[in-house]
Amino acid sequence: MKTYHLIGNLKMNPVSRDAVDRYLDMLRHEFVDGLPEGVAITVAAPFPYLERFASGLPEGVGLAAQDVFWEGEGAYTGEVSSAMLRDLGVSSVLVGHSERRRYARESDDDIAKKAAAAAEAGLGVVLCVGETAEERASGREADAVAEQLGAALSGVPSVHARRIVVAYEPRWAIGTDRVPTPEEILSVRIVIRRAVAERFGHDTAEAVPVLYGGSVRAVSLPETCFDAAMDGVLVGRESLVPDEFGRMACALSERATAGGTVPDIDRI
Ligand code: PGA
Repeated sequence: MKTYHLIGNLKMNPVSRDAVDRYLDMLRHEFVDGLPEGVAITVAAPFPYLERFASGLPEGVGLAAQDVFWEGEGAYTGEVSSAMLRDLGVSSVLVGHSERRRYARESDDDIAKKAAAAAEAGLGVVLCVGETAEERASGREADAVAEQLGAALSGVPSVHARRIVVAYEPRWAIGTDRVPTPEEILSVRIVIRRAVAERFGHDTAEAVPVLYGGSVRAVSLPETCFDAAMDGVLVGRESLVPDEFGRMACALSERATAGGTVPDIDRI
């Protein structure tokens, strides 16, 4: 049975301990009968509330951080290491999200160092890549994604390649309610597969999950995930709505347990 990935990126939300507790109550209620089959669910929470999430998430839901620093300890004011995250019960981390590239001016080199350090420390790495609106308008989306991915993977040792998940998030689709067509997503998926294969070989490339992110809702899963042969989704705003997040988990589970009526890219 295929396993789909559902990752909620809460970004800089919820904004207080009370709001976190309300969110976690609702999420536990959503999954009160256990997690649906065939879906690996993860929530990426803000740093100050990681410990609260670690103890309050429904059983079986993974905890991710939204950023990490590449050094292990020392004079790096404001930074957080992979070991600190692991110590809090975090199992994976988002690296290279477009909002980090934009607001924190993260470069490809920073992202490569973060991905390598997190993977070496035993964290799963959700590597976010995606073209800008200008790059797509000029037909450069494949090159842009291949360049970002090539740079980001350059420092990750092959032995840790299986810790990588790639999230294709076109920047123009994040927070905009605009989504690419399944054909557009699928063609970038092929570019991603090729870039991972160039770095780690074909067997590993087939094992690395590729997710879509950017304005995903439960009703758009057929276009953004199933028809585009993706392995799951990275969800921003809608992950803040527990019943919508639960609907997505159920839809992914139904698809996983239905036995793959849509061709899987691994077998194309
Ligand atoms: P969105 O965000 O679902 O709100 O578009 C996705 C993301 O930034 O990961």
